[in-house]
Amino acid sequence: MPITTCIFDAYGTLFDVAAAARIAAAEPGREDFARHWPQIAQNWRLKQLQYTWLRAVMNQHCDFWDVTQDGLDWALEAEGLDDPDLRERLLQLYWELEAYPEVPAMLQALKDKGMNTAILSNGSPKMLEGAVQSARIGDVLDDVLSVETVGIFKPADVVYDLVCGRFGCVSDEVLFVSSNGWDAAAAAGYGFTTAWVNRGNEPIDRLPGKPHHLLSDLTGIPALAV
Ligand code: LAC
Repeated sequence: MPITTCIFDAYGTLFDVAAAARIAAAEPGREDFARHWPQIAQNWRLKQLQYTWLRAVMNQHCDFWDVTQDGLDWALEAEGLDDPDLRERLLQLYWELEAYPEVPAMLQALKDKGMNTAILSNGSPKMLEGAVQSARIGDVLDDVLSVETVGIFKPADVVYDLVCGRFGCVSDEVLFVSSNGWDAAAAAGYGFTTAWVNRGNEPIDRLPGKPHHLLSDLTGIPALAV
């Protein structure tokens, strides 16, 4: 079936999650943090995601802003940093993440082709609103779908169900795009045509589903929407 609907993961896919720590590290007076920031950014993301998966299997859902703060606290403590001002600044930067440079034109090209476009994310509606606004991509998205509607994180099937529920399509018509290997694998297993955006040249995840397309950034997405 032809693709009618292009769905994007948010954090790491449209929005550069490492940007918060990278920007803070370049600010005056943050020389100590600057020495630790790559490790902190990596642990922050890893812990944030681990907590989503663990909370899903523990049936202890909370919103993504809570696991984002919990992951940051773990990452700062692991590097021996106790700095409430830095913590506040990193969270503020996370709320206002910028999109990767190719995102606005890529989404516009999909709209020009008549595609439905939306985000499907673990993010809470308020977090996603903040990121969409600061990246100025609201005009080229038809909707922003949050797991908060179903109260469990990806990769639970009920999250992917939100797409066809919203757009009245079948899974064959959906191109799902994620930079998270596990999200791309799960979405492929669910039945979406899936593109994995592997910016970091990582090994493929050893999980049941396999993404159909592998890309190094988002510029090739409109060509896949056929
Ligand atoms: C999201 C996380 C997985 O946006 O990046 O859903």
